[in-house]
Amino acid sequence: KKVANQMLVIFGASGDLTARKLVPALYNLYKGEHLPENFVVLGTSRSDMTDEEFRKKVVAESSFLQSQLKEQSEDFVKKFTEKLFYQDLGKRYTDSYDKLANRIAYLNEEFGTEENYIFYLSTPPSLYETIAKNLCEEGLTKEDRGWKRIIVEKPFGYDLASAKALNEGLHHYFEESQVYRIDHYLGKETVQNLLVTRFSNSIFEPLWNRNYIHHVEITNAETVGVEKRGGYYDKSGALRDMFQSHLLQIVSLLVMEPPINSNAEEIRDEKVKALKSLRIMKDEDDILENTLRGQYVESTVSGKKVKGYRQEDGVDPDSTTETYAAVRFFVDNWRWKGVPFYVRTAKRMPTKVTEAVIHFKTPHHQVFSSQDVYRQDNKLIIRIQPDEGILIKFGVKVPGLGFHVEQANMDFYYSDLDSAQVMDAYERLLLDAMQGDSTLYARADEVEAAWEFVDPILKCWKESDKVTTYGYAAGTWGPKNSDELIEEKFGWRNPGDL
Ligand code: BG6
Repeated sequence: KKVANQMLVIFGASGDLTARKLVPALYNLYKGEHLPENFVVLGTSRSDMTDEEFRKKVVAESSFLQSQLKEQSEDFVKKFTEKLFYQDLGKRYTDSYDKLANRIAYLNEEFGTEENYIFYLSTPPSLYETIAKNLCEEGLTKEDRGWKRIIVEKPFGYDLASAKALNEGLHHYFEESQVYRIDHYLGKETVQNLLVTRFSNSIFEPLWNRNYIHHVEITNAETVGVEKRGGYYDKSGALRDMFQSHLLQIVSLLVMEPPINSNAEEIRDEKVKALKSLRIMKDEDDILENTLRGQYVESTVSGKKVKGYRQEDGVDPDSTTETYAAVRFFVDNWRWKGVPFYVRTAKRMPTKVTEAVIHFKTPHHQVFSSQDVYRQDNKLIIRIQPDEGILIKFGVKVPGLGFHVEQANMDFYYSDLDSAQVMDAYERLLLDAMQGDSTLYARADEVEAAWEFVDPILKCWKESDKVTTYGYAAGTWGPKNSDELIEEKFGWRNPGDL
């Protein structure tokens, strides 16, 4: 699809996301010849910098661009960085947008971007409405000439009330169709492939329901701790940071009904319906029984001493914020009634992996007397990262006498495809926004439906004195009692298990 000439204006451009993710993604789009002929990026923030200083800064802070200087020649990288400009916003984000508006008008004129603007807000959410308001006052939201779009980063709200307030605030100045809420998990190849696996094959969808599926398990594990983000993380915790956004997005794609077509609104309508059918936990007992909080404690991982969460910079030494969260829930609709979903996410686990596992029921009549035939269930594993792929586990007879069964693996990995070039999530999502495709962006009602489910848990975790944050040694699979949450025969499937 042809990409219209346009300008990308990044707010918070001196921050780490611009150099680490956005500029490298734009560079790759440039290298892949996906950018339009007339395209400029205008970075803005409170820091004072010239265009040249901004260009140098992003290159210096991106190890990827550094490597490209050697691989692709300095000239090539320079041609790209010449598309980057910078304009400071003065001391505050609250006013004096006239200089910025003038610069936008000038660059538009000079480079022929046809008044098509994307405003990318990589700032704290508390500034979203203020920025939107100022853009509106400068006449930069009007679509009488080119189109105008606004991309906002996560976290989208702190709870349901603040997410609603954010939506309302943005809607004063932008139509919902102009708002693109980023959830970078939606840009991951395998997350999108969930739709294709389910709705372009006839072998999976007939089994995709309570009649054949025993339970669904999702694991998101990271080996890193909170790194330099202790201050932010301590106020957030795993449930807000990962579960409300990324993991509930995966849940919605697994749970949703087939959309009538692949248009953004049709797909998102179904995702909203899916999120609305998650059974909301009613009271403290319900929440105590169905959720688990954990926090990593100091340990030795691969011979190296690793700090406990409470010793991390920016973290309160008495913090009860969770770095591990596990939730069991049900989906109250025709398709999923009675099927338990188990979702866990944590930092400082033994390995970095994200996968969804569909566990199928064992056959309803057992023909073979040998019990090992039924020892393992059939599993479909959607490996989101790393080693993106789809793995099927089923039983085969071991050659020889009797009926002994072993698990066979029918595994597909993206890396097996010759042409496989997995696009970085930001690259894909930026290109989509540039083309006006919001399928992989979260809609207002979607985000609110996800908060609706998470809100009571957060509230109870905060207020109830019965909630414990269990310690787990860094580098392990979570609190010792985490298998109690999952009643299934084998406990959690730790990736790396067969
Ligand atoms: C971010 C969270 O949204 O996702 C981080 O704020 C987390 O805490 C990150 O580390 C994980 O992303 P990925 O793509 O590495 O799985």
